Amino acid sequence: MLYDNHGRQINYLRLAVTDRCNLRCFYCMPEEGIKYMPKKELLSYEEMERIVRIMAKMGIRKIRITGGEPFLRKGMMDFIQTLHSINGIEQLNVTTNGTMTKALVPDFKKVGIKSVNLSLDSLDQKRFFDITRRNDFSKVMDTFHQLLEYDIPTKINAVVMNGRNIEDIVPMINLTRDYPVSVRFIEEMPFNGTGEQAQVEAWDYPKILDHIKSNFPTIKKIKDPKHSTSFNYKIPGFKGSVGIIAAYSRLFCGSCNRIRLTPQGMLKTCLYDDGVFNIKKIIRNGGTDEHLKTALLEALGNRAKDGFEAEKNRTFGRPVSESMATIGG
Ligand code: GTP
Ligand code: 5AD
Ligand code: SF4
Repeated sequence: MLYDNHGRQINYLRLAVTDRCNLRCFYCMPEEGIKYMPKKELLSYEEMERIVRIMAKMGIRKIRITGGEPFLRKGMMDFIQTLHSINGIEQLNVTTNGTMTKALVPDFKKVGIKSVNLSLDSLDQKRFFDITRRNDFSKVMDTFHQLLEYDIPTKINAVVMNGRNIEDIVPMINLTRDYPVSVRFIEEMPFNGTGEQAQVEAWDYPKILDHIKSNFPTIKKIKDPKHSTSFNYKIPGFKGSVGIIAAYSRLFCGSCNRIRLTPQGMLKTCLYDDGVFNIKKIIRNGGTDEHLKTALLEALGNRAKDGFEAEKNRTFGRPVSESMATIGG
């Protein structure tokens, strides 16, 4: 088993497979997009597979595929199936924007996808367009219904933004009345590719919860799964549940079990660090598996205790500003 220097077990890898995205959500990218890495700078499938094999031997049990939008990368379903067949990998999940997934959903179980987190910030077509700058609302809803049809456990991720989608909170919670899904409201973080601080009037965990309680007074706290990023609730009688992810307040660092690999091959031991070592460089310079293992153990031996410390330790104290698409969330 793998542990960090604070005694936290590490068993979860978030693997960002591409920095490309077909939406332009304003909390993640500027309107003109970001400068994508040349393809040769991205880890190849073979390189990612090798890294996962090494990590699985060391104790990684769960992988979440993120991006950018993972399904923009050709051959993604085959790649997922390959990862699923690796000894030690017990759980493979995907976070997607759902715009190009409806036709793939029937094969999700076959390739080993256990559950899906669907990014969807509004249930209103116009507000969806204002947030994502693309007209793909109906495609995402089609994916949502297809996931239910095929009985794939689904969570909806909605970033909460003042003046953008507050009116969506109630209708989204009503989705949990009708469907067995978890709807999770996320504090906005400044990973937007512009360097600008996120919102002026922040919707943090207490504020989101107050708003929910005033509309659903019967809401009850339920037990959070181990290592959960969300604090979870349920409205009695509703089929699904509601969660709040205090991603900017960083309230769950004490039980953090995750590391990240960016599309360009940087290892991150915290979402808020700016990369602790370049795995791609080691691999492309002919590094052995043993070499990689040593570098990973060293990184985990120097892990920041929480997201605040990780942010403080960034190169030249530079605050976070990179697009979430380059990190995978
Ligand atoms: P589960 O595996 O279902 O628990 O999903 P998850 O919450 O780990 O992943 P998901 O990709 O759905 O991310 C939801 C939100 O939580 C995104 O905004 C992520 O950026 C944020 N998030 C995920 N992991 C971390 C983390 O370790 N720290 C912080 N601060 N935010 C995180
Ligand atoms: N703040 C909070 N969450 C974000 N995500 C992307 N950018 C941000 C941000 N700036 C979320 C997406 C996706 C998940 C991986 O990260 O909505 O669901
Ligand atoms: Fe883990 Fe960093 Fe997120 Fe805290 S902020 S939960 S340490 S990745």
